[in-house]
Amino acid sequence: MHIVLFSNRSAFEPSLSFEPPTYQFTRVQGLLAELPVRVLAYRPDLVLIGGFENTDALLEKIETLSAALPKAAIVLIAASPEPAFLLRAMRAGVREVIASDAQAAVDGAVARLQARQHGPQTSQARAGRCLGVMPAKGGDGSTCVVANLAAEIAKNPGLRVLVIDLSLPFGDVELFLTNAPAAHDLADFSDEIERLDGALLEVMAQHLAPNFHLIQTPQTLEPLLHVTPACVERLIRIALEHYDHVLIDLGLDAISLHVLGLPDLLDQLVLVTTANVPSVRRASQIIRLWESLEQPTSSLALVINRHTSGSDLSHSDIEKTLGLRASRVLPQDIDTLQDSLLRGVPAVTLKPRSDFAKSIAAWVADLTGQRLPETSIWTRLGIK
Ligand SMILES: Nc1ncnc2c1ncn2[C@@H]1O[C@H](COP(=O)(O)OP(=O)(O)OP(=O)(O)O)[C@@H](O)[C@H]1O
Ligand SMILES: [Mg+2]
Repeated sequence: MHIVLFSNRSAFEPSLSFEPPTYQFTRVQGLLAELPVRVLAYRPDLVLIGGFENTDALLEKIETLSAALPKAAIVLIAASPEPAFLLRAMRAGVREVIASDAQAAVDGAVARLQARQHGPQTSQARAGRCLGVMPAKGGDGSTCVVANLAAEIAKNPGLRVLVIDLSLPFGDVELFLTNAPAAHDLADFSDEIERLDGALLEVMAQHLAPNFHLIQTPQTLEPLLHVTPACVERLIRIALEHYDHVLIDLGLDAISLHVLGLPDLLDQLVLVTTANVPSVRRASQIIRLWESLEQPTSSLALVINRHTSGSDLSHSDIEKTLGLRASRVLPQDIDTLQDSLLRGVPAVTLKPRSDFAKSIAAWVADLTGQRLPETSIWTRLGIK
């Protein structure tokens, strides 16, 4: 691997070394304006750039270099870059930005590059589990369920979780999760789809926690015109290489139908219904749709939401009508959900002891196979 370090003429001379013959290392010093031409002459596999200000002029030169050397990986050494600069750098073709010029930091970037080139990701290995959630009828609670399931899974910091809102045109999953605005939405991802990889996905997704990310729908209709089924499929496939759990809030538009029909994408479709005749009738239509798409009934999970003692239909009536056993029953908990929406905090975080949150936690324990440790009676009583 040929590594070129390009730095400016002033005092940027990190003491880096790379062992030959695996690595050939060349230092090149020059003015920013010379960057593309000087580096191009060496045809390197990896370009390290350091010692420059984080400016648009730098990104312009990097973009030129990246276009001329599409196979080379460009790593920028830049202390404390702003998030907006990071994103522009990724768009300009930078593979990674590292904050330090220490040997260990650079070695880490080189190792990640090699893992990407030779590791399972280049063979499109899929690591994540993909769960689609759909309401039988509008308002049955699919968004509430997908948001809280995701937030509960993400309580385990070792699991990377992504929520994609495909409840088009105007999804609202963020209402159940956060008050913070998102810098990028689904349409932005579609626009970047050609260059999207794990690093760019990480930078563009909204970070609710370090391991918990969200992609919202656009707030207006016009950007949605760029969102195509093929873009969304590619986005999900890339996401599945980089997240342990990808949860999708689905609707019944062309894009969701495309996702539903793909034979190898969804590990499970969760159909959320409430116990009333119009919802159950719609649930039966969706089950028929799922079967007509030749998807296995074994990967369909029926969830009865907003259960109360006074529900219109009994569970056994619903199961008999649909020919499917309910895999979960979630209680109605109006106060908890209203509070959650008002504060923009997931119900499972805001009221972990509510019946609703406990039902979600039990579901997640089964999904992940990781039962959360029971607190002892002493802890619960506040004695230990
Ligand atoms: N188990 C529950 N207990 C109390 N309220 C609930 C419950 N589940 C959902 N809700 C409330 O019902 C309303 C509709 O829920 P949600 O937005 O999740 O439905 P949806 O199926 O996504 O609807 P849409 O078709 O509009 O996308 C919300 O105000 C939500 O807080
Ligand atoms: Mg919804």
